[in-house]
Amino acid sequence: METVKIFDLTRQARALKDEIDQALQAVLETGQFILGSRLEAFEIAFSDYLGCRFAVGVGSGTGALSLAYQAAGLAPGKKILTVPTTYVATAMAAAIHGGIPEFIDIRPDNGRMDLQRLHDRLARARREGTLQDYAAIVPVHLYGHPEDMNGLTAIAGEFGIAVIEDACQAHGAWFPVSGCGKVMAGTAGALGCFSFYPTKNLGAYGDGGMVVTNDPEMAERVRMLRNYGQGEKRHTHFAIAANNRLDEVQAAWLSVKLPHLDAYNRRRREIAAYYTARFAPLPLDLPPREAEGEYAVAHLYVIRTNDRESLQAHLAERGIGTAIHYPIPIHLQPAFQYLGYTEGAFPNAEAFARRVLSLPLYPELTDGEVERVVSAVSDFF
Ligand SMILES: Cc1ncc(COP(=O)(O)O)c(C=O)c1O
Repeated sequence: METVKIFDLTRQARALKDEIDQALQAVLETGQFILGSRLEAFEIAFSDYLGCRFAVGVGSGTGALSLAYQAAGLAPGKKILTVPTTYVATAMAAAIHGGIPEFIDIRPDNGRMDLQRLHDRLARARREGTLQDYAAIVPVHLYGHPEDMNGLTAIAGEFGIAVIEDACQAHGAWFPVSGCGKVMAGTAGALGCFSFYPTKNLGAYGDGGMVVTNDPEMAERVRMLRNYGQGEKRHTHFAIAANNRLDEVQAAWLSVKLPHLDAYNRRRREIAAYYTARFAPLPLDLPPREAEGEYAVAHLYVIRTNDRESLQAHLAERGIGTAIHYPIPIHLQPAFQYLGYTEGAFPNAEAFARRVLSLPLYPELTDGEVERVVSAVSDFF
């Protein structure tokens, strides 16, 4: 019997083949491959989709975070605050500029940033007179589940610190924020960052990313930073910056896919809801429930269990692909040893990393495949 893969990108590419081929052909005919009309059109379409003013296409999600941090004033020695359970890029993008990632442990029940700890950390910084060291708080909508943005933006406001959302896993998610009603993931803070890595809810056929904002100055700064620090006038450079652009071919392909995003997300949610209903009686920790007014986009379906390795082996024997997002919390990564954290620094994040297991979840999974995943997991217990 064929394996149910953890991801299968060939199915979507096959379903969209004609549109994708036409889009490629159209780009080839323009002869323009960088910073052209396809990127402009996609930036407008993406900002319209999110209901925000500006979207700036960049080379990857890591690039988006990196430029957003810089635009918000991250400089050597300045800090960002995030969780240790995210993909390493959230912290890397700060560290490559000499910034210091500082971590807030997660809540053991739902894996979200522990906002009491965040508040305590910032209150201590205020007492010690070090609040100005923080360039941004970076909530991560991990696995497509919105962070508690109502609580988080209130704390950020209290301490006057910018919020930069890592929405790399949350295209199309939303949540309520007091006074603003429904807010799309990526648009609640000063800047929002997206990845179009191929497996994302909106995935390119290569690397890509986007920074979104409602602030014209921030948008201008990111535009400048993505293009060697060049201003509007060619050959005049205002900042030391790399080449970090979303190319025309990827932009054209993403424009083909964007109109399908809501339907993809609905199918992801349908599969996730089915898994949750069927797994409810099992001795497993399941993904967090949506709070009132939230819309999660089920980027990954991640269960938690103390028997992870044996469950993973059991599923492999039955032809079910799985993955671990992510096995090592960032503070224990060798690259971040210089920060001086040791095991036990963030116990909830460490337990989370030991227990998480991702099951297949993408819009093109058939009902039969979903049923096979359910049976194989159920068999184990
Ligand atoms: C939460 C998170 N942040 C950042 C990134 C980095 O994005 P990219 O791989 O496009 O650089 C990813 C994806 O890989 C991610 O999942």
